[in-house]
Amino acid sequence: MAEVMSAYGLESVVKLASNESPFTPLPAVEKAIAAQMDGLNRYPDSAARDLKAAIADRHAVGVSQVAVGNGSCELIVNAGEALLDPGTTIIYADPSFAMYPHLAAAAGADAIAVPLAPDGGHDLNAMAAAVDERTRLVVICNPNNPTGVYRSADEIEGFLDLVPDDLAVLVDEAYYDFVTEPDRGRVSVLARSRPNLLVTRTFSKAYGLCGLRIGYAVGSESWVRALQSVRQPFNTNQLAQVAALESLKHPAAIQERIDEAISERERVADALTELGVPFTPSHGNFILMEPPGSGMDAAALHEDLLTRGVIVRNGSALGCPGTLRVTIGAPPENDAFLSALRSIVPV
Ligand SMILES: Cc1ncc(COP(=O)(O)O)c(C=O)c1O
Repeated sequence: MAEVMSAYGLESVVKLASNESPFTPLPAVEKAIAAQMDGLNRYPDSAARDLKAAIADRHAVGVSQVAVGNGSCELIVNAGEALLDPGTTIIYADPSFAMYPHLAAAAGADAIAVPLAPDGGHDLNAMAAAVDERTRLVVICNPNNPTGVYRSADEIEGFLDLVPDDLAVLVDEAYYDFVTEPDRGRVSVLARSRPNLLVTRTFSKAYGLCGLRIGYAVGSESWVRALQSVRQPFNTNQLAQVAALESLKHPAAIQERIDEAISERERVADALTELGVPFTPSHGNFILMEPPGSGMDAAALHEDLLTRGVIVRNGSALGCPGTLRVTIGAPPENDAFLSALRSIVPV
């Protein structure tokens, strides 16, 4: 942010580029973090017992079916490390979360990137068709980053029916909290009866804890054992464990924040429609948009927004050239984005 301010001579900027929460942690969470200061000379609980017990309770599974990680990123990386070898394949959608290709690269495995369907969601039939005897892992990002498109639990279940029962499938639900479909959360229920299914979630988005790095996975004991087999001891720090645990004790306060993000997402979407800016309807805390059809290109629009103090993500950095991804921020941040956009886009 400081570089952008000095590069463009700005007094303030709004950062809507990393799908972060505009909210700082809940006051009770800040208090719980502060209370840990005296104990930081000690290692954290390597097994994160209290946090795992709370997550297991929430999902009605055993503690041995829960893993926690240094962000959900760590658990996704662990999955690649545990399952992939040279000569094997991983399947994921394209464009999707930019980290998945690294799993293949790190293991010397082959990546099969299956293009998204025209609606911006996973083409689950094409992904199932790409599975062969070399496939060790399929990752489904739901809702998908960067498009925000959601596939229903029935569709995910249909995909699971198409692939072998012993093929590891990881559903990355980093943006689960912002989904407004009635079946939200049912994929994690499926994981109770489908031993090949693992669901990852994060405290980085709706819970506003991305700076602490904490996420979790729920699945079968064998999936969780695979993740544990490659994890470092003490992989999650004391402050993150305590903050996540305390956050889980305040579901109503967290839900209020989620509701605000969803209503702001609708407000931004309505404004984009009014401005004639094409975008993909999103179930995440972000919207993927295109420059309006007046010969304006995405890189120029990105730069133009920067000069007005608004940082969004250039889609070309996300494998989506010709687009921009804007995170839904606090109302004044969204106002700043919309007012910058209105001053650029001819009405
Ligand atoms: C799809 C997706 N999965 C996982 C993550 C990583 O989240 P965490 O902060 O829990 O590592 C992100 C972060 O932006 C994401 O977009």
